[in-house]
Amino acid sequence: MDKFIINGGKSLCGEVEITSAKNAYLPILAGCILSKKPILLHKCPKYNDVINMLKILKSLGAKITPQTNDGKLHNSCDILVDCSQLSVHTIPHELASVLRSSIFMLGSILGRFKKARVAYPGGCEIGARPIDLHIKGLKNLNVEISDKHGILSCEGKNMKGGVVNLDFPSVGATENIMLAAVLTKGTTKIFNAAKEPEIVDLANFLNTLGAKISGAGTSDIIIEGVSELNGCEYTPIPDRIIAGTYLIAGLICGGDITIRGFIPQHNQVLLEKLKDVNSKMEICGDTLHLVSNGYHNCISKIETSPYPGFPTDLQAQILALQTIGKGTSIIIENLFETRFKHVPELVKMGAQITVKDRTAIVNGVEKLYGASVNATDLRGGVSLVLAGLVAEGYTTVNNVFHIDRGYYQLENDLSKLGADIKRIKNN
Ligand code: UD1
Repeated sequence: MDKFIINGGKSLCGEVEITSAKNAYLPILAGCILSKKPILLHKCPKYNDVINMLKILKSLGAKITPQTNDGKLHNSCDILVDCSQLSVHTIPHELASVLRSSIFMLGSILGRFKKARVAYPGGCEIGARPIDLHIKGLKNLNVEISDKHGILSCEGKNMKGGVVNLDFPSVGATENIMLAAVLTKGTTKIFNAAKEPEIVDLANFLNTLGAKISGAGTSDIIIEGVSELNGCEYTPIPDRIIAGTYLIAGLICGGDITIRGFIPQHNQVLLEKLKDVNSKMEICGDTLHLVSNGYHNCISKIETSPYPGFPTDLQAQILALQTIGKGTSIIIENLFETRFKHVPELVKMGAQITVKDRTAIVNGVEKLYGASVNATDLRGGVSLVLAGLVAEGYTTVNNVFHIDRGYYQLENDLSKLGADIKRIKNN
C-alpha cells in the first residue's frame, strides 16, 4: 500500500484550486440512472470513491465517455454519462462493499426499474453506519423490502409518493428518498431532511433534468413525481471539505496561500470558528486568501452536528490544528461513535489528547515530532498528513488508500504549495 513521507516544518505559499465535491458527485452519478438521455457532467474528479461509483454504473450497463482527446479520465475531466441502455438492477457484494455510497443507488435503481437488489454497503470504518432510515423512508413510498444474506431486495411495483419523517437528518437517507421519489407518482414529503449543500446540489441537478423538487436546503423537501427526465449539462459544487482541509493546512504550517473554489457560505461555521485564530483571511467571491504565521490559540470548543453545524468531516483536521495551538480545546463528535481513530496516531507524534466517549480534550503543545503513523479512515488519514506537515523531522503516513478515496493526489497540491511530501508507491 502507498505511503506518504513528509519532511515537516515548511511554510506554505501559492495557489490551489478545489476540485468537485465527492459527496455531491456520488449521489449525482446515482441520479444519472433516472434519465434515459445523455448527461454531460463537468469536472469529474478522480477520487477513488468516484472511480468505484463509475465502475458500479458501468456494471449496470451505463456508458461513460470521458470528454478528452485520448478518451481517458484525467485529474478532473468532463464525462458523458449515458444510461439509456441500463439493463441490470442488482449491485453485487464485490462492488457494493468497496463504496458505501452504492446505497444511494437503491433509490435511483428503484426509481428506474421499480425493483432493486443491492448488497449492504462498505465505506469508512467510523462507526456502525446503519441504514434503517433509508429503509424506513423507502417503505413509506410503498416499497417492499426484504433483507436476506446481506442483500436488500426491493419491490417497487406499487410505489407511490408518501410522507417521510426522518428521526435524524441523515444525508444519505435524504438523498436516497429524493432519488426514489423523482419518478414515483404522487407527492413525496421529507420532513427533518438533511440541509447540506450537497443535498441542494443534488436537487438542482435533478431539477435541471426535469424533476420537481422544492425545499432542498431546508428541513422540508417536497418532490412531485414526474414520468420521465431529460438530459442536461451540469457542474457539481467544489468540495467544501477539501477547501477546509487546505485552509487548515495553511494555518497549521503558516504562510501565504490562495484557495480558489472556496465557497464561504458552505464553510461558514468553520470560518466563524477560525475568526479568532491569529491570521489574516480575505474572501473575494469564491477565492480565499490566507496569511498566517503558524501560531494560534486553541479554539475552546468544537462540536460536530449536521449542517449548518460544524462538519464531522472536518473534525479530524481541526483537531490536528488544535494539537499545536496555545491552550486547551474540547472537541465533541456527535455524528459517528468511533471517529477518533486518528487520536492515538497523533499522540505518537507528541500531541497531548485524551478521549472519553465522544469527547476529545486537546492540550496544545509547542511541537509535534515525525513518526510512522497509520491512516485508519479518510478524514482521520488527512489529519495525520496535516500533523506531518508541521512536525519536526520525517513522518510516514501509511495506508494512503484511505485518503485517496476523497483527495486526488493530495501530495501534488501540497507540494505545489511548498510542502515536502512524497508518495512511496507499493508496486
Ligand atoms: C454523509 C457523507 C459523509 C459525512 C456524513 C455526515 C456522503 C457520501 N457521505 O454520510 O462524508 O460524514 O454524511 O455529514 O455524502 N444514521 C442512522 N441510520 C441511517 C442513516 C444514518 O442511524 O439509516 C446515522 C449514522 O449512523 C450517523 C448519522 O446518522 O450517526 C449521520 O449519518 P448520515 O448523515 O446518513 O451520513 P452518510 O450519508 O452516511
